[in-house]
Amino acid sequence: MIRVLGIKGSPRVKSNSNLMLDKVVEGIKDTSKEPDIKIISPTKMDISPCQGCYNCEESGECIFNDDMEELYQDFDQADIILISTPVFFNGVSAQLKTMIDRCQAIWSSKYRAKGSIIDRDKKRFGFLLGSGGAPAYEGQFKGIYKVIDMFFKVTNTEWRGELLISNSDEVPIKERSHVLEEAYGIGKELVCDFN
Ligand SMILES: Cc1cc2nc3c(=O)[nH]c(=O)nc-3n(C[C@H](O)[C@H](O)[C@H](O)COP(=O)(O)O)c2cc1C
Repeated sequence: MIRVLGIKGSPRVKSNSNLMLDKVVEGIKDTSKEPDIKIISPTKMDISPCQGCYNCEESGECIFNDDMEELYQDFDQADIILISTPVFFNGVSAQLKTMIDRCQAIWSSKYRAKGSIIDRDKKRFGFLLGSGGAPAYEGQFKGIYKVIDMFFKVTNTEWRGELLISNSDEVPIKERSHVLEEAYGIGKELVCDFN
């Protein structure tokens, strides 16, 4: 069975980037693989921001006991990780960044503390869905790309691609059938490539 973890980074209900993630999931569901799918939204979760105390480097434990504890396990078990995010001030949403910063505990477990809390040899595929409201401009997605790249690296997830769409404030994704079709196709392909 293929485990899929979808992380919806936009806090908005009618979100462009989250809609793309939904379409990828639809594509995944329409395969014969019978995936186990879990969708989470950091906006709705109890995730405290990293305090940079480095307790995780010394003890291997984060000082916070919150929803990240379950997420560390979800990251470990996932075969495919999908992440959606809007571009906010050239970066990912604050809610998503808060979740990602807490992955310092994973980094510490790998390189400083008692032993990795993530299986470093497990095969995981990662895919990024991003929407920027402004018309395309130089470096519009560079910030989110770098942050997600680091997240995939710390979770030993192989970057499989990205769908980054500009001008979503003027033309919402829901009105762009070719984007939705592309997202759907990505879902099908991701699962097929996972063998
Ligand atoms: C706080 C904030 C900051 C934003 N900053 C940018 C930006 O730097 N570049 C850009 O292209 N769009 C920016 N936008 C527009 C969003 O990227 C756009 O509305 C996007 O489609 C939202 O995605 P969502 O619908 O998935 O939430 C910003 C919007 C907000 C609310």
